[in-house]
Amino acid sequence: MKVLSKKAGFWARLKQPIYALAPMEDVTDAAFRLVIARRGKPDVAFAEFASADGLCSERGRPNLMKLLYFDEIERPVVAQIFGEKPDNMYKAARICKEVGFDGVDINMGCPVKKVVRTGCGSALINTPELAREIIQAVQAGADPLPVSVKTRIGYNEIVLEEWLGHLLEVEPVAVTLHLRTRREMSKVDAHWEVMPAAVKQAENTSTLIIGNGDIRDLDHADQLIAETGMDGAMLGRAIYGNAWLFNRELRPEHITVHDRLELLEEHSLLYENVFGGRKNFAIMRKHLLAHTTGFFGCRELRQRLETVRCAADVLDAIAWFTAEFDHIHQFSSHKKTGALTASGNRAGD
Ligand SMILES: Cc1cc2nc3c(=O)[nH]c(=O)nc-3n(C[C@H](O)[C@H](O)[C@H](O)COP(=O)(O)O)c2cc1C
Repeated sequence: MKVLSKKAGFWARLKQPIYALAPMEDVTDAAFRLVIARRGKPDVAFAEFASADGLCSERGRPNLMKLLYFDEIERPVVAQIFGEKPDNMYKAARICKEVGFDGVDINMGCPVKKVVRTGCGSALINTPELAREIIQAVQAGADPLPVSVKTRIGYNEIVLEEWLGHLLEVEPVAVTLHLRTRREMSKVDAHWEVMPAAVKQAENTSTLIIGNGDIRDLDHADQLIAETGMDGAMLGRAIYGNAWLFNRELRPEHITVHDRLELLEEHSLLYENVFGGRKNFAIMRKHLLAHTTGFFGCRELRQRLETVRCAADVLDAIAWFTAEFDHIHQFSSHKKTGALTASGNRAGD
């Protein structure tokens, strides 16, 4: 276990190993993160990435501020910014601090063309001096908040040792390694074989090394932590369709139909509440479909959810489903007794 200084902020207070929720644009937004936090809180959650240039422009800022929403129960929660201009990164870090985040993360891993074309995201792996300058600018802007980096293990080829060496020199509190190169996008398996060397390289530093890529669940994370010695694990896509991912008490097979319907309703209402028209409801559909799996009648319900345009449509779909499938799931009798068991799932809840 790494002992961190006070400078490390909330990171120093976390129990290690650390289990983190990955930033994912249009997936782990403020509404979804709140839904997750209520069901099984990660040790730390990362908000979707926000452009520093956008946050620094009078015109861009109002639209981007929705990326910086969070709820108190999520804490500790970290904002993530990207950019290639140290000045703007400094200012954007200050904005994140003023908004009340617990930390600021720098995206140095995004592989998307429109981001790397401007020298941001994973393109910074090719300009390590600039990357270091950016980290220092964000450290100054975020001060006293801790600053971390999320990156990949190379651009075209794996250059992890050299790249990590550059990062460690400026002492970010944590480095999350998505164990693929930029060229690999998400097309190959994550290179977990390189992780032990990275952990060793950072051994005598005060930087936490967090691994990321293809982790299925907490058991899988535990196995990788044991194998690599890393200080924490970050999970991303495993959250699709499993808002209980970080809940060790509740196994997926024990999640009831009622739990899932409640999730659909809560998530839809929250989304509308939080974003109030600032984000298209169509973005919610992929979540709704992912939440709706593994029970009798889910196919029919999914068909209805494919075209919903607002939370009221989702409530209508749920009402239709509970009426149509009451003979199977017996929602009405459960409601009366308060015993929310459906299809023989979790009894005595
Ligand atoms: C839809 C989507 C959006 C993403 N958005 C971000 C982002 O905003 N910032 C970031 O650092 N990584 C982003 N990522 C990468 C993830 O954080 C993570 O590194 C990647 O999905 C691998 O981890 P996983 O296999 O656990 O999903 C995104 C990934 C996906 C699939």
